[in-house]
Amino acid sequence: MERFENINLKRYNTFGISALADEMYNCYDEEEVHEALKRTAGRRRYVIGGGSNILLLGDFHGAIIRPLIGGVEIRLSDSDYTYVTAGAGVEWDDFVRWAIENGLYGVENLSGIPGHVGACPVQNIGAYGVEAKDVILNVEGVWTDRPGMFDLDAKECAFGYRDSIFKHEMRGRGVITHVTFRLSNKPDFKLDYGAIRQQMESERAEVTAANIRAAVKKIRDSKLPDPKVQGNAGSFFKNPEVDKSAADAIRADHPDMPSYSTPSGLVKIPAGWLIERSGMKGQSLGPAAVHDRQALVIVNKGGATGADIMAMCDAVKSRVKEAFGIELTAEVNLV
Ligand code: EPU
Repeated sequence: MERFENINLKRYNTFGISALADEMYNCYDEEEVHEALKRTAGRRRYVIGGGSNILLLGDFHGAIIRPLIGGVEIRLSDSDYTYVTAGAGVEWDDFVRWAIENGLYGVENLSGIPGHVGACPVQNIGAYGVEAKDVILNVEGVWTDRPGMFDLDAKECAFGYRDSIFKHEMRGRGVITHVTFRLSNKPDFKLDYGAIRQQMESERAEVTAANIRAAVKKIRDSKLPDPKVQGNAGSFFKNPEVDKSAADAIRADHPDMPSYSTPSGLVKIPAGWLIERSGMKGQSLGPAAVHDRQALVIVNKGGATGADIMAMCDAVKSRVKEAFGIELTAEVNLV
């Protein structure tokens, strides 16, 4: 275990925001997570994985816990599936690459997403028609408010769109240490979401997991800013779900509005489209800006504070509210 005091978190969040934490613990196995929790009992704590979905609003007075548990291990294989457990600290995209190299299917569409394995069930990360919930079997971790470990199956995780029990009842109550995935031994490719098929056809690429991965990475790179070059946390907002009458009212004025119907009967409207149509795409406010190629993303042009990013977020929200009567909500976790 490593322990730091008064540490600047700039390197540990992809927005690149400078903020101090009183303490930070790097934990390399389950025992070290237990130890860090014991040492910080009764104090304010926050778990950071890859730091790719958080916005630091100021200095953090408390302890940051970083579960950096590695390892990817095949637990069991039957004729259809292979069950694989990965440590919370494994880079998500390394896990995806590992799966493809080992002939296992199901996560190829989730290529190129920044962050750690431990965060994938919290957000229920998703892209191109696949969500983490489609492949998660169970999630294990250490309770923060009682002794011992938890082990939740996918149903207990209560996954929703960018949502899970870890954002609600389990919030702050556990540190995820391992996630077990059920990967397929046979392909069942999903090419019809977004531009995957188009991208592959334009390159005359054979339909393989490795080529899907390459296509997804190309599409992402063409739209999403690289956090190493310009600080950001991917989509800043969730795509709002509204009832059909509200969607129809907008469509009456904007017949080209993209939308998707959800299983619950609501209509999902891309926030990026709403933001672009409200005139905010590419707009700046101080050192924060709405990305000029993907309006869902807010970027740090350099030296932004959490408050600067929030000011941009509020400006976007009020413009979209004014233009469409829709209240956007942040997808990024505010710390
Ligand atoms: N759009 C615009 N203007 C924009 C951005 C998008 O008009 O500036 C329109 C597009 O033309 C398209 C629609 O909005 O018709 C959807 O856009 P896109 O396919 O780029 O996907 P998204 O809804 O913007 C979501 C996820 C992404 C994920 C992609 C691909 C959320 C909040 N975001 O974005 O996830 O990669 O789908 O599946 O659900 C993330 O969560 O950080 C993230 C990047």
